[in-house]
Amino acid sequence: MKGDFPILKGITYLDSAATTQKPIHVIDAISHYYKTSNANVHRGLYTLSQKATLAFEDARATVATFINTTPEHIVFTKGTTESLNLLASSLNLQEGDEIVLTEMEHHANLVPWQQTKATLKFIPLKDDYHLDLEAAKELITDKTKIVAVTHISNVLGTINDIETLTQLAHSKGAKIVVDAAQSIAHLTIDIKDIDFLAFSGHKMCGPTGIGILYGKDFSNLKPYQFGGDMIKEVTYETSTFQEAPYKFEAGTPNIAGAIGLAAAITYLETATHPHITEYALEKLQSIEGLKIIGPQINRAPVFSFTLEGIHPHDVAEILSKHNICVRAGHHCAMPLMKKLNIHGTTRASFYIYNTKEDVDTLVEGIKKVQEVFK
Ligand SMILES: Cc1ncc(COP(=O)(O)O)c(C=O)c1O
Repeated sequence: MKGDFPILKGITYLDSAATTQKPIHVIDAISHYYKTSNANVHRGLYTLSQKATLAFEDARATVATFINTTPEHIVFTKGTTESLNLLASSLNLQEGDEIVLTEMEHHANLVPWQQTKATLKFIPLKDDYHLDLEAAKELITDKTKIVAVTHISNVLGTINDIETLTQLAHSKGAKIVVDAAQSIAHLTIDIKDIDFLAFSGHKMCGPTGIGILYGKDFSNLKPYQFGGDMIKEVTYETSTFQEAPYKFEAGTPNIAGAIGLAAAITYLETATHPHITEYALEKLQSIEGLKIIGPQINRAPVFSFTLEGIHPHDVAEILSKHNICVRAGHHCAMPLMKKLNIHGTTRASFYIYNTKEDVDTLVEGIKKVQEVFK
């Protein structure tokens, strides 16, 4: 599998929660598009433009099938962040409305909601790094319009119980928004009862600059940006807009990105997904002075940890000298760091191309870091 990823030579890449590496299939699909089909979409009457439009709309259909829906529910965006910004600015939230989030959200699923007129409430984290669902029952009330929750925490690796949270939201007439930025890489997602779902191509072997907003029903959402391609009719005074998904896709879209994302999906459907979560957990736990900041069960292979007496930046820097790529810092979750009373963590995140040997390399690397600070 590693052989499919040209960049993975001589490095141990353990930062896939930030972005994944790209297989040659995806790189080739993008290159092939530019070599053979590049033209603007939805406008040209000439063959090349029709070819580009077909490939772009085929990509939408591939994404739709991947999460078990149909193309009219799939909006192309720049990524999870843009998808969530689109929602926060288009849902017409008013003063007195409440949005229920969790204490483990990435800034992308917090800051956009802070810009609305609604009041924010937070489902607390328990000592075992899972959400307190009893508290959620109290927090989600008739005033709640949105429950927006990450499916997998990019810091803790916790897998949240979306089914229960969806039921709680719907029992009060609220919509559920799922941030699937991390889960799209690790879980099979069937959107079923979910109202809105956001994810990024680059976290699932696809290119950067392309993402998805799934919506069950977009009819009450106003467009987010305005311009070409999203309109029906324009006069000097006013305009009418297309239906979803096009009303949210103003301007020339990331055509090559969409085609690259579809190639990533095709690749992932045939790729084997090695299960190294248990192995990594066991190995990391066996290191003296290392504390895993995250749950023991129901978790993804995203491991944040602290090393007694050593700053996370020092850990990452020394590991880098051994060609091991990990992330250190607050991981775009400053409120969570404050809640946990830590400044930051080192995070090692694994993906389909990682092996047990990579876990062993990391463990050896951490021991070398500890040697330096002895
Ligand atoms: C849980 C979560 N949500 C949202 C994002 C934002 O994704 P993007 O930067 O691709 O928009 C990330 C990125 O790390 C994430 O991990």
